[in-house]
Amino acid sequence: MRLILLALAIALAIAWAADAKTAQPEIAKPKPDAQKVERGRYLAIVGGCSDCHTADYAESEGQVPESQWMRGSPLGFRGPWGTTYATNLRISLSKITEEEWVKYAKSLETRPPMPWFNLKQWDEEDLRAFYHYVRQLGPLGKPAPEPVPPHEEPKVPVVTWPIPQAK
Ligand code: HEC
Repeated sequence: MRLILLALAIALAIAWAADAKTAQPEIAKPKPDAQKVERGRYLAIVGGCSDCHTADYAESEGQVPESQWMRGSPLGFRGPWGTTYATNLRISLSKITEEEWVKYAKSLETRPPMPWFNLKQWDEEDLRAFYHYVRQLGPLGKPAPEPVPPHEEPKVPVVTWPIPQAK
């Protein structure tokens, strides 16, 4: 019995350590820079990021408090690529440095409908401003649902792409 308990305790400790490793801590925030934050905020709006990365934003015509922006969305986008979810950028960006973000954004390629081909064209200064804006919002909420492979049924509401043909 004792041995079993000991084995269980060790297994739990290993599982916890593995979990702690994947749950990366938040990287130190960049030095506050009001101009960059303002520019980043503007780009987030005109770049349309909130349309998908903020739950209910497009549906409510932008009437979501700014404190909730960029926290991801549980609305799935389903198509031949499977089902994808606009991620929680407040968590994503809290785990990488400004330099890492610039490189990441410049080389990003994702499944649809994320317009990565547009983000790639932002110049470095704009990408840095966006980073400053999102970092000062701080991490919030939980990660968006995991993407679902094409042959599996998603469990939450989805937008189907393209619209299914009427029979
Ligand atoms: C039409 C909806 C849509 C718009 C608009 C959009 N995204 Fe996305 N984004 C997504 C989806 C869906 C994913 C997940 C794609 C996947 O799982 O392959 C994603 C993924 C990402 C990722 C990679 C995942 C991560 O968290 O690191 C980044 C970075 C990102 N988006 C940034 C942006 C930025 C910045 C903007 C605004 C310029 C933007 N997105 C606009 C839907 C969108």
